[in-house]
Amino acid sequence: MNRSFTKFGGHFLFAIFFVLCLGVKSQLSTNFYSKTCPNVLQIVRREVQKAIKVEMRMAASLIRLHFHDCFVNGCDASVLLDGSDSEKFAAPNRNSARGFEVIDAIKTAVERQCSGVVSCADILAIAARDSVLLSGGPTWKVLLGRRDGLVANQTGANALPSPFEGLNILTAKFAAVGLNITDLVSLSGGAHTIGLAKCAFFSNRLSNFSGTGAPDATMDTSLVSELRSLCANGDGNNTAPLDRNSIDLFDNHYFQNLINNKGLLSSDQILYSSDEAKSTTKSLVESYSSNSNLFFANFVNSMIKMGNVSPLTGTNGEIRKNCRAVNSLTEI
Ligand code: HEM
Ligand SMILES: *[C@@H]1O[C@H](CO)[C@@H](O)[C@H](O)[C@H]1NC(C)=O
Ligand SMILES: *[C@@H]1O[C@H](CO)[C@@H](O)[C@H](O)[C@H]1NC(C)=O
Ligand SMILES: *[C@@H]1O[C@H](CO)[C@@H](O)[C@H](O)[C@H]1NC(C)=O
Ligand SMILES: *[C@@H]1O[C@H](CO)[C@@H](O)[C@H](O)[C@H]1NC(C)=O
Repeated sequence: MNRSFTKFGGHFLFAIFFVLCLGVKSQLSTNFYSKTCPNVLQIVRREVQKAIKVEMRMAASLIRLHFHDCFVNGCDASVLLDGSDSEKFAAPNRNSARGFEVIDAIKTAVERQCSGVVSCADILAIAARDSVLLSGGPTWKVLLGRRDGLVANQTGANALPSPFEGLNILTAKFAAVGLNITDLVSLSGGAHTIGLAKCAFFSNRLSNFSGTGAPDATMDTSLVSELRSLCANGDGNNTAPLDRNSIDLFDNHYFQNLINNKGLLSSDQILYSSDEAKSTTKSLVESYSSNSNLFFANFVNSMIKMGNVSPLTGTNGEIRKNCRAVNSLTEI
């Protein structure tokens, strides 16, 4: 009697251990809010639709916010926090990351129906998914259940992947959050099929590139002249489309641009043109440029992986009431 009880207990403990192990990989689920906020997906979709009707570029800006969130302390909405250590002031975000007012509007609409239930980190993940779909890209079921972080990390945000870094450094930065080369190509390539970039992030390619006395040899010469006149005022704020073939459409033209030396950022073009690319990313760029279905499938897989970077779950973190501040401060 006693012995069989022990045996049963052992199996039971083993079962719990097994479930915990699975949980470590991802504690997120697609139906996380089905009881507590059943309309959350519709609410976010409606607000994203509203925002991109005002400005199509907002789809791109929202996708980028999710990326900049997940790469700094995991997908915990740290990018949304205001305050002295705000990630918004870090170099990759300052005067560049945008869409914060749209996230506020979504949060307000969600709070109206289900107060204190849906995290800002999940709102970023849903808004990114909707932005891809509403731009003509693929869709997927978003995993949910992330909680919001309690701190911003400006140092971490300053270390986000930079357009001035080489392929080996970018690869290492992706690997540090569990993303591989396939993810690097499908995500940065994929997302840069829409949206804009400022001259400040690519004008170094237009003359005396890396001290060579000449423009970046891997940029098409007519594109060099065109961008030179765009950036001529020197203030760095003028913008060019990341995918000049189809600015607002989520498609695989970005990869075709790279093959034609028409990538905008250095970090884009090196995926095809650098020496390291020959044994790593170049063949993927070629595959995606001719196979849109493969690109879409890999992009979806990589977005889900990125959304799984170190989420706070269980009793970690909190559900922020206001995406810009942690609750303790809001309530004082
Ligand atoms: C190698 C890694 C990456 C680098 C170096 C990089 C760099 C940049 C830069 C410099 C800009 C222009 C920002 C501006 O001018 O204000 C930009 C825009 C953008 N990035 Fe990336 N990025 C990378 C990966 C990603 C990933 C993984 C995503 C999302 C999954 C993404 C989504 C976007 C989008 C959608 C835009 C356009 C934003 C807008 O128009 O507001 N990027 N990126
Ligand atoms: C901030 O981010 C950096 C780089 O990702 C990390 O090493 C550091 O531990 C983070 N700091 C905090 C306080 O989370
Ligand atoms: C990257 O990870 C995915 C799984 O998410 C895998 O299918 C793919 O083969 C990996 N790519 C490389 C280059 O290891
Ligand atoms: C290009 O830059 C290098 C080093 O940054 C500098 O020594 C050189 O004088 C520059 N050349 C031109 C043509 O401006
Ligand atoms: C670029 O725009 C930002 C704000 O959008 C502004 O603070 C900055 O002064 C501008 N740069 C120049 C040189 O005008």
